Amino acid sequence: MSRFHALIPAAGSGSRMGGVLPKQYLELKGLPLIAHALIALAREPRIDRLVVVLSPDDAWWGNYDWSGWQDRMQVLRCGGAARAGTVLNGLQAMAEWCAADDWVLVHDAARPCLPGEALGRLLDIAADDAVGGLLAVPVADTLKRADAGCRVEVTVPRAGLWQAQTPQMFRHGMLRDALRAAGDDMTDEASAIERMGLHPCLVECDSRNLKVTYPQDLRLASLILEHLND
Ligand code: CTP
Ligand code: MG
Repeated sequence: MSRFHALIPAAGSGSRMGGVLPKQYLELKGLPLIAHALIALAREPRIDRLVVVLSPDDAWWGNYDWSGWQDRMQVLRCGGAARAGTVLNGLQAMAEWCAADDWVLVHDAARPCLPGEALGRLLDIAADDAVGGLLAVPVADTLKRADAGCRVEVTVPRAGLWQAQTPQMFRHGMLRDALRAAGDDMTDEASAIERMGLHPCLVECDSRNLKVTYPQDLRLASLILEHLND
């Protein structure tokens, strides 16, 4: 039986958020964002281990008490310059104890409001899939492509378009091979899998699973978190 593990890339600097503190450490209801991401993943009993990948020069992780997490969590300080590198370095370190056909769910440290039922659905559906899959949301708004002068060049039909979220769930060996071949410019794991000519399945989630990117997102995340698993 393949096992399920979570890998949480947390080596970013949060440049779009501004400020000195990387956004995974911004406080939300008394806890850093990354703790909320970990709590959501840990609620799913099928997930065996949580692997956190920090930047080698992270100066903040040690400011928190993680003693309750010891049994289930592994912390690595091998983050890369880009997200894809962080994930690949984490996968390589995991190879010591993780089987090639174990499932790895890569989840952004900056997504604190992952609904439990969506996570469960991803495991149910993607574990039966030859490729794997990701949580995503069908695009709701009308889409415009801008020209260089910030004027509408064209309206892009939204039919069939989805916004990719995380977790993104693939087999350890397949994802490692895909990221090795793809290089550092991928902003998600599915893109690397797609480059191998494969087609990950889209598992529907909703806008509660936002990625905190800009300062205003923090307030929104706080409101969502209050009723997340009602
Ligand atoms: N990430 C990472 N290693 C990097 C860059 C990003 O582990 N070199 C992680 C972030 O910590 C975050 C997730 O990937 O958990 C999603 O990335 P993003 O939202 O882009 O975060 P940042 O790169 O930190 O933010 P920004 O792009 O605004 O600088
Ligand atoms: Mg980034």
